[in-house]
Amino acid sequence: MTYETILTHHDGAVTLITLNRPQALNALNTTVLEELIAAFAEFERDDGQRCAVLTGSGEKAFAAGADIKEMADKPTAAFYGEDFFAGWTSRLVKAVRKPWIAAVNGFALGGGCEVAMMADFIIASDNAQFGQPEIKLGVAPGMGGSQRLTRAVGKAKAMEMCLTGRMMDAAEAERAGLVSRVVPLAELMDDAMATARTVAGMPPLAAMMSKEMVDMAFETTLDQGLLAERRMFQVLTATEDKAEGMAAFVEKRPGQWKGR
Ligand code: HXC
Repeated sequence: MTYETILTHHDGAVTLITLNRPQALNALNTTVLEELIAAFAEFERDDGQRCAVLTGSGEKAFAAGADIKEMADKPTAAFYGEDFFAGWTSRLVKAVRKPWIAAVNGFALGGGCEVAMMADFIIASDNAQFGQPEIKLGVAPGMGGSQRLTRAVGKAKAMEMCLTGRMMDAAEAERAGLVSRVVPLAELMDDAMATARTVAGMPPLAAMMSKEMVDMAFETTLDQGLLAERRMFQVLTATEDKAEGMAAFVEKRPGQWKGR
């Protein structure tokens, strides 16, 4: 499928999705949202695809936020009536059970930071800048900034960023736990794609359940989470991939995964 505002590419079992509005620093308008939802749905449906990477085109921005020019004249009744931004969570995050990685190149501001935080983890280039500058526009984060950022970096930094709009650079983001790793910009895509290939090479059911379990840590009490984790572990022991994985270890050879 071809899109207007994003690019998609298959590299073996890895789907690369690139936000492609470099002239607007990859600002997220309604078309981008619809196309991202379609591209991630296609990724989710395709049994041959095991992990995705989302990045921004150009060297300057992953995404500089929701499209301010599109929002400027939109009436409140439309924001509320359309339940503006709800699609990001319901149709993009919750509908994607396979793992995906955000490769953040440059600015990830407002909705850009929020979309990066929807990924299972973030790898950042050394020029990356994260921020929730919505307050400067007279609004506040609308698709997870106040919630996911706070869970990722804690109250002090999240509150300061939301109240002042200040940006966090890549080094600070790594120290604060917002990103898993920082790499030089020139190496970002090779690194992110290699990491995605590693994930894609894992037993698929174990990968999906690992994602589900880590996400559950943010939704449940410790006791409920530990119980769910134990049950998922026990379920995985019934898979052919478990038998193969343990036999492969004993026989000192790589496992061959079937996804069942
Ligand atoms: C629409 C945007 C945009 C955005 C940049 N552009 N960000 N267009 N929406 N979020 C456009 C600019 O208008 C400009 O186009 C082109 O991209 C290049 O941007 P410049 O500003 O000229 O680049 P630079 O001087 O390098 O500054 C980079 C920047 C700045 C610091 C990232 O662009 C910036 O502050 N952008 C807005 C960041 C922001 O506030 N994001 C949060 C949005 S609100 P033209 O055609 O003019 O040259 C949000 C959630 C909203 O995400 C929730 C509310 C309900």
